[in-house]
Amino acid sequence: METQNKSFPKHFFWGAATSAHQVEGNNHNDWTEWEKLGRVAHGEHSGLASGHYDRYREDFAIAKELGHTMHRLSIEWSRIEPRPGIFDQQAIAHYRDVLLELRRLGIEPMVTLWHFTNPIWVQQLGGWTNKQTIDLYGRYVSTIVRELGDLVTYWITVNEPTVYSSSSYLFSYWPPERKNPITAWSVIRNFVAAHRLGYQIIHRHNPNAKVGVANNLNHFIPARRNNYLDRTLATFSRYWHNQWWLDQTYLTQDFIGLNYYFYHPLRFKISGLQNLLRPEPQDRAPMSDLGWEIHPHGLGELFDFLKKYDRPIIVTENGLADAADQFRAAFIRDHVAEIEKALQRGVRIQGYLHWSLIDNFEWREGFAPRFGLIAIDYATLQRTIRPSAYTYRDIIRQRSA
Ligand code: NOJ
Repeated sequence: METQNKSFPKHFFWGAATSAHQVEGNNHNDWTEWEKLGRVAHGEHSGLASGHYDRYREDFAIAKELGHTMHRLSIEWSRIEPRPGIFDQQAIAHYRDVLLELRRLGIEPMVTLWHFTNPIWVQQLGGWTNKQTIDLYGRYVSTIVRELGDLVTYWITVNEPTVYSSSSYLFSYWPPERKNPITAWSVIRNFVAAHRLGYQIIHRHNPNAKVGVANNLNHFIPARRNNYLDRTLATFSRYWHNQWWLDQTYLTQDFIGLNYYFYHPLRFKISGLQNLLRPEPQDRAPMSDLGWEIHPHGLGELFDFLKKYDRPIIVTENGLADAADQFRAAFIRDHVAEIEKALQRGVRIQGYLHWSLIDNFEWREGFAPRFGLIAIDYATLQRTIRPSAYTYRDIIRQRSA
């Protein structure tokens, strides 16, 4: 591939990501039902969220101004198929307009087909515990690919399936709040099957499509380097969280989507599974508003881990909650530097998508965490570009010059 600026390929994609439920507003799915139980921080509901469903043009115009060349968004299954087998033409037309707007601006869309939310009727049938959901997902994907496939090359079949399976079915933290390892296991198996099915459906329609998964990969290390139990725990976590899913699916990933947030030093404790996996705070690295430590070099380590799968990589998410915008500019600079170093080592990386384009509904944590390059005033839905978004724009300009 032709290269510029020493390391960045000419067609390297720069941009940001969002997901439907977190930004659109007025969704009606299994999450909105669960939000009524008061489990979200401060009893919040996703409600109007960031109002993106109606304001996507304004948001994309800003993305364009900021130099973005790719945008990742998700399609909300519950809007497309509000009742079993009944597909809403208006909703399909809406997403057509969204994709056309991106194309008009010269921004390449990346479309996620499932990002944590289910139509209520799917959940009533048992959601991802039910094998039937695989075929229901396949029918939904076929519809999207038939209706919108002419506008999309880059697809994500499912977002962070391992995180969802454990948060919803093992740690009881997300809907439907189950705590059963056997169920969690069947859920992740069903995601493997659904991903493979989605991959086939998309490729049947367009052999040149690029299909991947947004994989949540963590950099796990032993808290005490020479402690056998910590090392075993790190090895086990790497295998279970990072490797198992990829081993099952990499042959059906045209590119590996990498969501990078966490660097986990692990200390073995005999105090229940959740505590066992709770990371130790490490060497006073700066922290996001959610208390997540910032360790850019973990991204570089993960690139090296991924080499064995021999697939191009796109960073499909990377970001932090930072309301004061005090760390974001350096955060982006340092993570992009890791990409640059990895490119120089010969790792094939094709894009970087920051999480997120706009502030949004952070699931159980609600609206307090501010992940956006663009700030949202939730009272007025007014958009304000954060200073770090301009730093990112300058990085993009420099690396594309
Ligand atoms: C990954 C998830 O895909 C996204 O929905 C979430 O907002 C970010 N992580 C930040 O937690």
